[in-house]
Amino acid sequence: MAKNVDATARIKKIAPHQIPYSTILRLTQYLRVVEKIDELGVRNISSAELSEETLINSFLVRKDLSYFGEFGVRGVGYEVPILRRELKKILGVSTRHKTVLVGAGNLGRALVQYQGFYERGFEITAIFDSSPDKIGTKIQEFTVESVFTLEDYIVKNPDITIGIIAVPAANAQFIANLLVANNIKGILSFAPLTLQIPDDVVYATADLTTHLEIISYYLTHPDARKTFEVRI
Ligand code: NAI
Repeated sequence: MAKNVDATARIKKIAPHQIPYSTILRLTQYLRVVEKIDELGVRNISSAELSEETLINSFLVRKDLSYFGEFGVRGVGYEVPILRRELKKILGVSTRHKTVLVGAGNLGRALVQYQGFYERGFEITAIFDSSPDKIGTKIQEFTVESVFTLEDYIVKNPDITIGIIAVPAANAQFIANLLVANNIKGILSFAPLTLQIPDDVVYATADLTTHLEIISYYLTHPDARKTFEVRI
């Protein structure tokens, strides 16, 4: 009988502020898998299958998903469309985030051309640079705009929530200050330094070197792989 229970009815109210950061990192991995299998028309997934797909220990999978309430059904697992919807809701990607990108160099150009951001709910709406060689050039459908117009653009488009920084380290704080002063509440910086960002702004850095160093650590210490549960 439990197998026919409408899982929606069993979802408890969640307390997003109580979810640990390590769980949030894994939720993005679950969402990736769940979106893929949902597109394939798969209706249910068990924690063991989710564990196999993500290489995350099945105990952790069950623990992580328990933060949403008891909506898995014993013997059946999780209903894929519901799990997808709930993961998107908790990650805040049910609605699209509009994003500006500053720095149209090698990295900036690659980021703009990456379709995955859009597919996962992040829409780059404009790209800015300070170099006369870059301003006015095209990257796909975008024309690179002068960084001097960045402030004006954000003010006229209050639905922009995230700024991506892909400028050299020496100029990154200046750009961050500009974004913060214009009410941007989320900053992703690729510049290799820690920026001074107020507490009410969500700030993340992306550094591929860190991942290479982690890989290097596990290559150097093979025994440590026994405790390596989460993919990076
Ligand atoms: P790049 O030199 O090709 O491009 C930087 C761009 O920023 C240039 O077009 C330049 O005109 C522009 N720029 C400089 N000052 C600016 C300002 N004040 N306002 C607007 N635009 C400005 O450099 P690349 O290779 O694209 O790297 C960009 C940044 O990303 C650097 O900080 C680099 O260290 C970092 N990076 C980080 C990686 C990571 O894994 N986190 C990987 C690759 C790069």
